[in-house]
Amino acid sequence: MSNTNDIPVPQARYALLQSDRKSCLFRNRFILVGLLVIVVSFFTLSVYIATIGIYDQVLFPKTNGKKDLPKHWINRAIFYNSIDYNNVNKTEELIYKKAPNVETFKLVCYYSFPTEKSIKENSSGILLPENIDANLCTHINLAFADIVNNSIYLDTFKLDAAKSIINLKKENKNLKVLLSIGGAGSGKGFPEMVLNHANRKTFIKSIDFYVKHYKFDGIDLDWEFPNRQLSKDKKEKVHFTQLLHEIRNEINRQEKHKFLLSVAVAAPSFIVDISYDVSYMNEYVDYINLMSYDFHFYTKFTPFTGLNAPLYSVPNQIGYFATLNINYSANYWHVKGMDKNKIIIGLPTYGHSFKLLNPNNNGIDAPAKGYGTLGKNGFIDYNDVCWFLNKNQIKPCFDMETKSPYATKYSEWISYDEQTSLTFKAEYIKNNNFGGAMILSLNTDDHQGLCKSDSKGVRFPLTNRVRTILNDQQL
Ligand SMILES: *[C@@H]1O[C@H](CO)[C@@H](O)[C@H](O)[C@H]1NC(C)=O
Ligand SMILES: *[C@@H]1O[C@H](CO)[C@@H](O)[C@H](O)[C@H]1NC(C)=O
Ligand SMILES: *[C@@H]1O[C@H](CO)[C@@H](O)[C@H](O)[C@H]1NC(C)=O
Ligand SMILES: *[C@@H]1O[C@H](CO)[C@@H](O)[C@H](O)[C@H]1NC(C)=O
Repeated sequence: MSNTNDIPVPQARYALLQSDRKSCLFRNRFILVGLLVIVVSFFTLSVYIATIGIYDQVLFPKTNGKKDLPKHWINRAIFYNSIDYNNVNKTEELIYKKAPNVETFKLVCYYSFPTEKSIKENSSGILLPENIDANLCTHINLAFADIVNNSIYLDTFKLDAAKSIINLKKENKNLKVLLSIGGAGSGKGFPEMVLNHANRKTFIKSIDFYVKHYKFDGIDLDWEFPNRQLSKDKKEKVHFTQLLHEIRNEINRQEKHKFLLSVAVAAPSFIVDISYDVSYMNEYVDYINLMSYDFHFYTKFTPFTGLNAPLYSVPNQIGYFATLNINYSANYWHVKGMDKNKIIIGLPTYGHSFKLLNPNNNGIDAPAKGYGTLGKNGFIDYNDVCWFLNKNQIKPCFDMETKSPYATKYSEWISYDEQTSLTFKAEYIKNNNFGGAMILSLNTDDHQGLCKSDSKGVRFPLTNRVRTILNDQQL
């Protein structure tokens, strides 16, 4: 049996890690030995900082409210973290199928349309279509179009943005641009549309129109999630599968206008069981975009710190909690019938912030009492992560079990991804023959190259790192 830990990785890629790890160990020992000193100095420091009123300025970047973090992402994070753990079925024993060989890897990048309002108010800091690098990703998913009257709907503002991005194909003829439909918390439109053949047919006609008329290369369906509320329509899951089947038939019928069909899918096994007929989906989709992030997020059901996208579980995690990681989810999809080369593994360029109950208890699974102050609703983009670390001179901890960093200062605690963690995760994708990586999102990466300390001013440093690893290029 192959163990990903055994696969050799060029030494240089670990160099940074060894030092990070040492600093973590050092810190833990320091906390144990000098607990009293820390408690005393913490309170002294807090009182000092509170008194002179610089606490917020020191700790938190000023984002002036213009950050493009979509508010609706919160719906997925909450749903992932709000389940009744006692009612989750025992997850299946995973049995491996032989992995197919993959020649090339996909790099599917989501781009969230900016809003017209945010651009009018202050467009600096917002990723505009013309600032996307045409050669960075193999696929760009434009997020999101809605479903209105059983048809795809894009307002004129989004349509203009979409046209600019489709224009990037002139710079990179291999680039595929897909229109992503739905989005987190957007049950809207899907239940009615899948309900009967006539509605589905209307929808498929509108796909044809967008493909032919605007030259989209395909569509990505992001329904979060079919059968979510164990809904009124008892056959919602079946109807969704039927939709995929009918779209596949339509693609087969097309001669000149064939298009790609992908689905953005849930990672937690309990949602997979509720929402998808995996082995049927495997027949109809070109690939799936596995939303393997938001595994841990503050909710009142999960009031403790945790990692956004751990590659593996933390050793002391048991039962359902041990399944909340990239490795488990990706294998779960595979075992349920999705070909490995059709599984595109999601990697986030954003992180989550938490507010610690006790700043001295600040590891993974430490009690938390809310979202952190950084970011919006506990979501932080990479620029804010970078700002927070640099401004406060924080030495992050790198958890070697999950291949993920976290950082803390006072009661602020953040989980995020950077070049090193994404190196491990992209190596994992490659070494295990999955189909590629999906990035959520270009907007939350450092698209202006402002995070100079880590990436020397490179634009999209995180997405670039994933690309470099998948392409087997030198760092
Ligand atoms: C658990 O699994 C059993 C057997 O597979 C099934 O009958 C039952 O509906 C499942 N329960 C839930 C809550 O999914
Ligand atoms: C626009 O936003 C940038 C950073 O996002 C900020 O530095 C600048 O002051 C803002 N300009 C105005 C007019 O608010
Ligand atoms: C949807 O249908 C309603 C009722 O027929 C109509 O008023 C509305 O304009 C339609 N919306 C779109 C975007 O076509
Ligand atoms: C990855 O997942 C598989 C399937 O659940 C499991 O057998 C394997 O031990 C996991 N790898 C690690 C390093 O946890």
